[in-house]
Amino acid sequence: MGVLKVLCTCALTFCLLANPSFASLNGAIPKKFGIVMFRAFDTTDITAPLEILNFIGLLYNTEVVLLSDTLEPVSTQPLTMNPKNSSVWTTFTPTHTFDTAPEVDVLIVPGGPGARNPNMTAVWNYIAKAAPKTKHVLTICTGSGVAAKAGIMDGRKATTNKAAWKEITAYGPNTEWIPKARWVEDESAEPPIWSSSGVTSGFDMLLQFVEKKYSLQNATYMANLIEHVRITDPSNDPFAVNINGTAA
Ligand SMILES: *[C@@H]1O[C@H](CO)[C@@H](O)[C@H](O)[C@H]1NC(C)=O
Ligand SMILES: *[C@@H]1O[C@H](CO)[C@@H](O)[C@H](O)[C@H]1NC(C)=O
Ligand SMILES: *[C@@H]1O[C@H](CO)[C@@H](O)[C@H](O)[C@H]1NC(C)=O
Ligand SMILES: *[C@@H]1O[C@H](CO)[C@@H](O)[C@H](O)[C@H]1NC(C)=O
Repeated sequence: MGVLKVLCTCALTFCLLANPSFASLNGAIPKKFGIVMFRAFDTTDITAPLEILNFIGLLYNTEVVLLSDTLEPVSTQPLTMNPKNSSVWTTFTPTHTFDTAPEVDVLIVPGGPGARNPNMTAVWNYIAKAAPKTKHVLTICTGSGVAAKAGIMDGRKATTNKAAWKEITAYGPNTEWIPKARWVEDESAEPPIWSSSGVTSGFDMLLQFVEKKYSLQNATYMANLIEHVRITDPSNDPFAVNINGTAA
């Protein structure tokens, strides 16, 4: 048909497709995504996947559920640390509790200051219970530490935010931590577990996920709309230098 017309309002980067084309990939594509939320998650660890999922949802029938311990809105505010009494924190409202969560194809685990919370039993229990029933687990930033504490990273290769390397890798003594990686794809067992480095690396991992599960065309399309210069080589990690404390 004609050229795909895209109307884009940059404020929300919310785009309407004039001619959406529905690919037929024989049902192999994921349909239901679950995002785990806990107090003091990092905003972008959740909004980067949501940004990409908003576009996936325009191309394919897709569902996203936001999961937490209760249905109370979950705040990005760190538990104890707010030295300037700021009100910059945002909240996200869960769609389901861990107890009422439907089974999902893809489970997304964010990080953030809250990943260090010593009392995340409900989160760890949910991840341990849900992960084996998924087709794929994606962790962003220090979310790999949360997944490690949930016990699903044993024997797996993974990475995490280089500015939090020592602290987070200690959470997974039986994990093979890859120090120079924008993201790591461990497909050695079911479910496959991909882990990204810090915060914005989630975009590169998610776009690689789109390229592999949907199409390169779709990944390029989304990267162009959000004006993101993709890192497509997972070993291209400009931030690996932080591991030895030279920055951040
Ligand atoms: C923040 O608020 C608390 C009480 O609400 C007050 O004790 C403290 O001095 C405030 N801190 C700053 C940096 O304003
Ligand atoms: C852990 O958190 C739960 C609520 O999620 C609370 O009921 C419990 O008292 C906490 N335990 C500790 C040791 O802080
Ligand atoms: C998405 O990928 C599918 C499968 O290759 C293709 O048919 C469709 O045109 C793509 N849509 C966009 C907007 O990239
Ligand atoms: C960190 O330091 C160790 C020991 O000096 C070195 O072997 C390693 O290559 C360094 N890593 C990075 C990413 O600079």
